[in-house]
Amino acid sequence: MIEVGKKDMKHGVRQLDSFSRGRKPRLDSIEDRGFRPRLKSVSMFALVALLGVSASSCRKIDMVDQPKAATQEPSDFFADGRSSRPHIEGTVARGQLRTDRLYYFGLVKGPDGKEHESAEFPTKYPDGKPFPRQGPELEAMLQRGKSQFMVFCYECHGATGEGDGMIVRRGFPKPPSYLLPVAKGGVKDKPVGHYFGVITNGFGAMFSYHERVEVADRWAIAGYIRALQLSQDATMDDVKAAGVSLADTGTKSETGGKP
Ligand code: HEC
Repeated sequence: MIEVGKKDMKHGVRQLDSFSRGRKPRLDSIEDRGFRPRLKSVSMFALVALLGVSASSCRKIDMVDQPKAATQEPSDFFADGRSSRPHIEGTVARGQLRTDRLYYFGLVKGPDGKEHESAEFPTKYPDGKPFPRQGPELEAMLQRGKSQFMVFCYECHGATGEGDGMIVRRGFPKPPSYLLPVAKGGVKDKPVGHYFGVITNGFGAMFSYHERVEVADRWAIAGYIRALQLSQDATMDDVKAAGVSLADTGTKSETGGKP
């Protein structure tokens, strides 16, 4: 019995492989390499091995090889020359229905029937959870607002919201102060829906942040802007009414005013 050499095995596998990829095997080369005479004596073992290889490579002529259109590829299948179809008008992707105008756009309908920027925060989140008004939930939201403000707004608007951030000190147009009323060139008496809208859509020289700041975080930032405004105007009575003791603020008389 003539044994099948390693080289012959490899060659046979290559032939089968090219066949399974849909190419015509180069039969002429079999003869060139003197393969045919020895093929007769291929043992059962080698045949089984070869069949195994060909079975496992069937995957290659499967669905991956079907005709398909790549993204944005033109096609003459449809009259408009596009391979993909535009959305049917009114289609809403799952989880993207935005009927709550106040929560998603900061807008409410006024008595005149027209929409205007809301003076109030929303009352609930889309999942029905109440929007925080007090207690630890409110504190957590304001902390979140602060951290997002420090990431996205502080560099221009400054830590207190006066509009003196580092980018402005380096030449960017100065934003209006959050702390001054409109009459003095600030935006303090603007409704919260306005802050939400400015983050969402941008305003004049300021670009929009809707792609970077999520809706819930935009409200948290708007809340933090209100907190900044309150903090600048707070009286001792406000501090007492909030139940904050001076010890909590670090303003201890023993330190003589030093930190
Ligand atoms: C790159 C600098 C920059 C950053 C960052 C920035 N702003 Fe502004 N913002 C401005 C400038 C400049 C204006 C004034 C735009 C104008 O009047 O043309 C402005 C205006 C505003 C106004 C007032 C709009 C009005 O009614 O006059 C609000 C509110 C505001 N920004 C909020 C934010 C918040 C919230 C963030 C963070 C999410 C933020 N901005 C991030 C530069 C910035």
